[in-house]
Amino acid sequence: MSRKQIAAANWKMNLTLQQGEQLLNEIINKPHEISENQLVIFSVPAPYLQMAQQKIADKKGVFIAAQNCFNKKNGAYTGEISVEMLNSLGIQFVVLGHSERREYFNESNSFLAEKINICLENNIQPIFCCGEPLSVRESNTQNEYVAKQLKESLYHLSADQLLKVVIAYEPIWAIGTGKTATSDQAQEMHAFIRKDLANVYGNDIANSISILYGGSVKAANAVEIFSQPDVDGGLVGGASLIADEFVAIINALQ
Ligand code: PGA
Repeated sequence: MSRKQIAAANWKMNLTLQQGEQLLNEIINKPHEISENQLVIFSVPAPYLQMAQQKIADKKGVFIAAQNCFNKKNGAYTGEISVEMLNSLGIQFVVLGHSERREYFNESNSFLAEKINICLENNIQPIFCCGEPLSVRESNTQNEYVAKQLKESLYHLSADQLLKVVIAYEPIWAIGTGKTATSDQAQEMHAFIRKDLANVYGNDIANSISILYGGSVKAANAVEIFSQPDVDGGLVGGASLIADEFVAIINALQ
């Protein structure tokens, strides 16, 4: 996949089926241009994947993502979601390593590496989340922290595999707090991530990877954040639950 500008909604554990359906209707029926180099992705709760997939079936540039999947193909893992299940629904993306999964469900870098592998083996593109907590930012060691996440979950991949991965940088202190990283802080980290990728895979590969920013993105700050040269769009929680907000965020893509 060449480098795309991406607006990704992350509904998290919100909305009923009816509310989700209505929200999708409102967003996909509002006028907005999705150009060749842009994607819109809705990461919806698992029970709504099929509804959402059907709704966007004929919409060019619009995709549905799962919010998680398991690292095993199938078997006795009650409550988990397999890549085979996602394949059978036609789902092409999955969010992996969100800080909420890391924090509440103890997902480690090495466990995430296994999930990344099974996704790529089954033609599902991971949206891999990374990002530091406040204490790390305060001690100014965020680069080392994020580099370790990338190394332990992604750098075993071949270049061809890595090209299928979307990276989302989400500083934990900015998620759901209303506290956005400044566009300079976002650019600084995104440039660092791209340089780190380039050190391992070379410039061409690094320049082909989409790196999204996440953490209190909203209509009012999307244009400025997305205008940074190494920011290729956003992974959006709260503001993706409001149709007008998310449409404005889509329109803010470069
Ligand atoms: P937020 O969430 O936009 O509500 O801060 C972003 C995310 O967690 O993906």
